Amino acid sequence: MELIYENSFVTDNEIKKYSKKIQEIHNSICNKECPGSDFLGWVNLEYDKDEIERIKTCAAKIRRDSDYLVVIGIGGSYLGARAVIEALSHSFRQKNVLFAGNNMSPDYINDLLEFIGDHDFSINVISKSGTTTEPAIAFSILKQKLYEKYGHDEACKRIYVTTDREKGLLRKEAIDENYETFTVPDNIGGRYSVLTPVGLLPIAVAGINIDNLMLGALQAMQKYEVLPDNEAYTYAIIRNILLKKGKDIELLVNYEPKLHYFTEWWKQLFGESEGKDGKGIFPAGVDNTTDLHSMGQYIQDGQKMIFETVLDVENPYRDYKLPTQNDAELDFLTGKSLNEVNHMAMQGTIKAHYDGDVPNILIKIDRIDEYNIGWLIYFFEKACAVSGLMLDVNPFNQPGVEAYKKEMFKLLKK
Ligand code: PA5
Repeated sequence: MELIYENSFVTDNEIKKYSKKIQEIHNSICNKECPGSDFLGWVNLEYDKDEIERIKTCAAKIRRDSDYLVVIGIGGSYLGARAVIEALSHSFRQKNVLFAGNNMSPDYINDLLEFIGDHDFSINVISKSGTTTEPAIAFSILKQKLYEKYGHDEACKRIYVTTDREKGLLRKEAIDENYETFTVPDNIGGRYSVLTPVGLLPIAVAGINIDNLMLGALQAMQKYEVLPDNEAYTYAIIRNILLKKGKDIELLVNYEPKLHYFTEWWKQLFGESEGKDGKGIFPAGVDNTTDLHSMGQYIQDGQKMIFETVLDVENPYRDYKLPTQNDAELDFLTGKSLNEVNHMAMQGTIKAHYDGDVPNILIKIDRIDEYNIGWLIYFFEKACAVSGLMLDVNPFNQPGVEAYKKEMFKLLKK
């Protein structure tokens, strides 16, 4: 992975001015003294061989006895797995992992039940607190379907629970019913949990190589645990400098549709980590070139409060050589590869946006594979924590999420 930025919108001198602050933040993370230090478990990523083997064994069983695994969870208990599965799967083939409990739409759940129909299925219900309303509703519905289809005893063998080590309703039920369970570590919050069983079980069920995913993340961890030459820290500094220059919105930009959910994961990571105490960069995303024909006008020409971070994937798995174009207007495309055209669109857009006062940061990876996705996950987690600490917020809590729940529970007379 390579981080590329233009010196004209953020100079090396401006970056250097943050050296002391970054050193302090780095020390506070290493010494576990920063705000929210109880939630630094993701920093020293663990490869627990036995746990990984248990995940693989369960994934193999699910793949054998189920056409679908329904993953029930919301926020950090859902987005990471979806991001990785979408990024690393065929664009059109039906996936064997379905998602529920991330909304309260009756149409969604009815469509899901209809889609599952007579197919064999299992459930992985994921909730650290074990009490979140959306997954609790979906679990009650899908559990009932499992009971109807398989009877109580077999249904229990098809329910996999990922939750807190001892607290919460889910843990209690898992003990009573003898479900297979996985633990969300105490010291890892939802949005930093994709590289724990929260993400790894669904990802493994989707047939993705979790060893390579972890390898990428572990190597990123080694790279970003030291101060000099630390691109995660540089990215965090650049974001904060741009914020001070009035760039309140960051768009994560991709030119690969498979990265759409990676952006959704990234939005949650940065949005929940930084958006508090009246502070924070608003994280949003675009899928290009699709969105150049919808949001492109605003980005180029609207309010000058946006900067972009572009995910540049150098190589596709299979390129496509364009056929001879019969129309003189399109002749410039003849003989070019689609990857070449996609990259020219990307470079042209970066130049145009840059000229339109929209700074662009480039994050380059050679291809979308397990290793690089693992690396990017760790890179963004580390950058996000440091960036939040630069803003003097606690990057690991989310007190604002409670407000809607309070009002909703009042209306539901909880
Ligand atoms: O990042 C977070 O902590 C949140 O997004 C949670 O993951 C989300 O609210 C779901 O919580 P839980 O896993 O307790 O159901």
